[in-house]
Amino acid sequence: MTATNESPSPHDGQVPFGVLRSPREILFGAGVIAALPRVVSELGIRAFVCTDPVIARSDALRRFVQDARGQVVVEVYSAVEPELPLANVHRAIDAARAFEPDVIVGFGGGSAMDLAKLVSLGVVTSQPLSDFYGENLVPSTVLPIVAVPTTAGTGSEVTPVAVVADPGRALKVGISSPYLIPIVAIVDPNLTITCPPSVTAFSGIDALTHAIESYSASRRDPELHLPLPVFVGANSLSRGLGLEAARHIGPNLHTAVRDGANQGARSSMAYGSMLAGLAFGTGGTHLSHALQYPIGDLTHTPHGLGVGLLLPYVMEACLPSSAQSFARLGVAMGVVDEGSIDSHAAEATINFIVTLRSEIGVPHTLRELGVGENQLPKIVELSQTVARLVTNAPATDPRALLEPVARRAWAGISDVFAAQSLVAT
Ligand SMILES: NC(=O)c1ccc[n+]([C@@H]2O[C@H](COP(=O)([O-])OP(=O)(O)OC[C@H]3O[C@@H](n4cnc5c(N)ncnc54)[C@H](O)[C@@H]3O)[C@@H](O)[C@H]2O)c1
Repeated sequence: MTATNESPSPHDGQVPFGVLRSPREILFGAGVIAALPRVVSELGIRAFVCTDPVIARSDALRRFVQDARGQVVVEVYSAVEPELPLANVHRAIDAARAFEPDVIVGFGGGSAMDLAKLVSLGVVTSQPLSDFYGENLVPSTVLPIVAVPTTAGTGSEVTPVAVVADPGRALKVGISSPYLIPIVAIVDPNLTITCPPSVTAFSGIDALTHAIESYSASRRDPELHLPLPVFVGANSLSRGLGLEAARHIGPNLHTAVRDGANQGARSSMAYGSMLAGLAFGTGGTHLSHALQYPIGDLTHTPHGLGVGLLLPYVMEACLPSSAQSFARLGVAMGVVDEGSIDSHAAEATINFIVTLRSEIGVPHTLRELGVGENQLPKIVELSQTVARLVTNAPATDPRALLEPVARRAWAGISDVFAAQSLVAT
């Protein structure tokens, strides 16, 4: 694949080229959770539910178990841990093997949905999961997955990715395969109402980062006679979805954090996060995510906090090739006027992200996460190994951007935005 710098807009007159992989069915809207018993019973009679201790106590999960009774035998595995340590995954796979399910339900945040993907793979293979770390290494169909997100979010309900923290690796690792895309996604914004402000903030800025990175990813000419990579780079479909995702997330994230009971903001966040998942599930993300893999492992901080912290520094580094894209994102989010597709508009968009990030309680520097300056070279070295994300960045030499981005994010240096410290919400 050859890379071009500025991705074309869906409106710039170029012939559209698009790739989209998605669930067979997506149900979105307040109340759609009522469909879960029917959807599961259409896929099997033994359902293994992956969830975390908080969601296990929720009315929504209890109601599902009750309503499914008589049609489906349900086993609830409620010990999902945030950020998904590998030992946690192994315990869940053992429990699922003993239960012999024919459908797996991921009910919770990204950690629960990713666990569902890994369990659906783990029960059909005798190979260690590490054999599948990377792209396109899952050889065939896994058990059917139904995904029900309770955060907005990772977009995992529609993506081909599962992320795990393997103590044998110095960075978080992903298994990316179209076989891991859930068969059905049931996205009910009401399930996110109980998210506390910090979970809303970190998962929400993760979704915004998905929208912005997939929209600004490099555009590559696919070699159609070869198997396509999981992340094909920006294309007409991913860009359309990414822009629409930003339109919903940008103006609503702060409201959702400040006023969690605001159904309009919750609904826009859940919708935007799902669209961003569809966008990056084929378009891919880039440098914020590549750097976050080792930083997340080192600091044990939430994934969204890390990518949200890095995002403005990454956008600044990508400005020479992506000013138009950032300006269009700014228009979509209501930050700049329709007519202003120039570098000032792009900078205004970056400044908007910095202010938003500060308002919702995401730190400004890696230093604040406890990262030592002497750890930066290792972080850069490890992030370079996440080649599928690094090469997806919109630059002629994206590897060269990692070191300056890491240094600037550590010290809080920017030519575009002023230093801002953490503002508690
Ligand atoms: N598969 C993908 O495409 C993808 C994309 C991005 C991130 N991820 C992964 O997802 C994980 C992060 O997921 P996340 O941000 O959704 O958080 P999470 O699933 O780790 O949950 C964080 C916390 O929020 C709580 N929580 C979740 N929903 C709640 C609700 N409705 N009410 C109250 N509390 C609730 C959980 O109990 C947990 O304590 C990371 O492991 C990350 O690497 C996966």
